[in-house]
Amino acid sequence: MFNVVLIEPAIPPNTGNVGRLCLATQSTLHLVKPLGFSLDDRQLKRAGLDYWDEVNVRLWNSFSDLQRAQLLDTRYFFLTTKTKRAYYDVALRQDDFLVFGRETKGLPETLLAANTENCITIPMHGTRSLNLATAVAIVLFEAVRQQQC
Ligand SMILES: C[S@@+](CC[C@H](N)C(=O)[O-])C[C@H]1O[C@@H](n2cnc3c(N)ncnc32)[C@H](O)[C@@H]1O
Repeated sequence: MFNVVLIEPAIPPNTGNVGRLCLATQSTLHLVKPLGFSLDDRQLKRAGLDYWDEVNVRLWNSFSDLQRAQLLDTRYFFLTTKTKRAYYDVALRQDDFLVFGRETKGLPETLLAANTENCITIPMHGTRSLNLATAVAIVLFEAVRQQQC
C-alpha cells in the first residue's frame, strides 16, 4: 500500500518491528545501505517473528538509487523533528514514500534541506525524538486511516 524507507538503520529489532508494520499494512520496506547489521541478524528475525520472510523488502545502495528507480511524480515525505508541519496535516496517498532516518543521527541535513516542503513531524513533548519503529507505526497507520475516509 505504502512505502516505508529506512535510511541506514542501525538497530536490528527496530527494523524487525518495522517489517511487521509493513507486512500488517501491505507496505513495502525499503532499506538504504549501509545497514548496521546483516539481514540474517538473529535479533532482526526475532523482532520480525516468523513473518520476516514474508515482508516485501527492497535493498538500495543509496537513496538516489531508490529515487531513480521510481516514477518521476512519486511523492516522498521526510520524517523529522526539525519541522513544524504535523504528519496529520498531510493528505497521504497510496504509493507515497515515507522516509525515516537512522536511530542515532536522524535524516541527513542535506536531504532535509533539499526537501523542506515535504518534511513532516510527529508533535511531541519532553523528549528529543521517538523510537524509530514507534514513529513508523504512528505515521503508517495514519496513512492507512486516511485511506478509509
Ligand atoms: C530515533 S530518531 C533519530 C534521532 C536523531 N537524534 C535526530 O535528531 O533526528 C530516528 C528517526 O525516527 C523518526 N522520528 C522519531 N521521532 C520523530 C518525530 N517526533 N517526528 C518525526 N519523525 C520522528 C525520524 O525519521 C528519525 O530520523
